[in-house]
Amino acid sequence: MTGGAGYIGSHTVVQLVESGHEVVVLDNLCTSRRAALDRVAGLVGAPVPLRQVDVRDEAQVQAVLDDVRPDAVVHFAGLKAVGESVGDPERYYRTNVAGTLNLVRAMQRTGCRVLVFSSSATVYGDPAAVPVREDFPLQPTNPYGRSKLMVEQVLRDVAAADPTWRVALLRYFNPVGAHPSGRIGEDPLGVPSNLLPYVCQVAVGRRDRLHVFGDDYPTPDGTGVRDYIHVVDLAAGHLAALHALGHRTGCHVWNLGTGRGYSVLEVVAAFERAARRVVPHDVVDRRPGDVAVCYADPLQAEADLGWTAKLGIEEMVQDAWAWQAANPQGYPPD
Ligand code: NAD
Ligand code: UFG
Repeated sequence: MTGGAGYIGSHTVVQLVESGHEVVVLDNLCTSRRAALDRVAGLVGAPVPLRQVDVRDEAQVQAVLDDVRPDAVVHFAGLKAVGESVGDPERYYRTNVAGTLNLVRAMQRTGCRVLVFSSSATVYGDPAAVPVREDFPLQPTNPYGRSKLMVEQVLRDVAAADPTWRVALLRYFNPVGAHPSGRIGEDPLGVPSNLLPYVCQVAVGRRDRLHVFGDDYPTPDGTGVRDYIHVVDLAAGHLAALHALGHRTGCHVWNLGTGRGYSVLEVVAAFERAARRVVPHDVVDRRPGDVAVCYADPLQAEADLGWTAKLGIEEMVQDAWAWQAANPQGYPPD
């Protein structure tokens, strides 16, 4: 697995090991901490091997694959901050696109042809309608989103050229929450750009107030509506996709979402109930590039993978808060 020390990767390692898979993590720890893997090891009762390697370094990626000889790769490693991608697109394309090309070449040389890729609902841009189906137009609005779409296109072409490839393109909606133990969770570097980590940091006293980005959207309460999905459900979606690739070749795309949207104010209210504390907030201007409403049609994943999200908004905010309350400053530094 690449990027296995990160937020979604660490939760997926737990479930893979728990269901009997042997996992080796390739990660350069540029946005994550070694402590996350130590905590995962504590949860599963076995060490999680880490190869501290950069996906941009083709020789090192090849060396890891030659050594590990994986049956399958789950590829999380990448950069994901939309604003940062506008300021430094080259870094985003190099990591997300060139990094994936390095991985694909190493997999080809090693004879591994099974790949699960972290894509994003961001590839839909401002969706034509909701719920968003996999066959909707793809029109990302920023370099991060375009890097994800480029990788999707590369992987489609690779699978078309060599029909022994088995590829899953998983388009995540808005991952939130944490492992119910509170031992692992989301620990963004710097100021969180996503809603729930920001809310958690306000609640724990690291930030003063939440800024609600606009209350004049055409939604019931005027704030943006998104399809939040519990990271434990999302991790389970990866296991389901890996399983499905066991009996189908080619390149397949699945939305991973709940199919239900919540507004910013609904999330804040649910959080306040779960945490039993007030989250002070002010409405400010819209954030450039935000869309009003985005939620998934998850029926394709249900039909093909037998997977649906099971956890609701209460579990999402409860588990996010349990993690943040137990780890106010996130993971200890390495
Ligand atoms: P994260 O930042 O917590 O994890 C990413 C991991 O990749 C980190 O451990 C980081 O150290 C590693 N990494 C980054 N660049 C690397 C490099 N050059 N070489 C090796 N390792 C590198 O992010 P996450 O939320 O866990 O996201 C995982 C994947 O899912 C990313 O590809 C992201 O784009 C995608 N995704 C995330 C979201 C979200 O909202 N969290 C939504 C859609 C898609
Ligand atoms: N929001 C706030 N205040 C904040 C942060 C967010 O009001 O401090 C609002 C946003 O305006 C939006 C909602 O909360 O209405 C969710 O925002 P996030 O940043 O958590 O999530 P986005 O849907 O904007 O972003 C996600 C992924 C990105 C991806 C994008 C586009 O995190 O990686 O979807 O699909 F690019």
